[in-house]
Amino acid sequence: MKALVINGPNLNMLGIREPGIYGSDNYDRLVQICQEAGTAQGFDEVEVFQSNHEGNIVDKIQEAYGKVDGIVINPAAYTHTSVAILDALKAVAIPAVEVHISAVETREDFRQVSYARLACFATITGEGLQGYAHALELLKEHLEK
Ligand code: DQA
Repeated sequence: MKALVINGPNLNMLGIREPGIYGSDNYDRLVQICQEAGTAQGFDEVEVFQSNHEGNIVDKIQEAYGKVDGIVINPAAYTHTSVAILDALKAVAIPAVEVHISAVETREDFRQVSYARLACFATITGEGLQGYAHALELLKEHLEK
């Protein structure tokens, strides 16, 4: 079983970027957490992808069609704006979990809308980088049903 973890803009800046909100661990640590959680959950493969570009994220979701069993996605700022990412997730219809490192529900009004959420069976917020491990656990449970 293959999982794909997709990260949107500025997540490559983890560790530098607003550490009071996103913590001091860097992007490499995020990748490591995903790989370790994937192994622990019994996935054969976990690919971790990051892009600052909306179209590249849409391309990646489309390329996953027929090749990937489940998606974990943190669309970052595109969460709140991108109908294109929502439509791509709906188009491929691959089971998906939405993750946010921060507790978006306690932040600014403009972060209260999530388009991607409409194509995800679960959402995890405010668990820091461990939220990705939690998301992979939920994904595995869902795929085994
Ligand atoms: C984020 C929350 C978004 O509102 C923000 O734009 C991000 C990161 C999170 O993981 O908490 O870039 O998705």
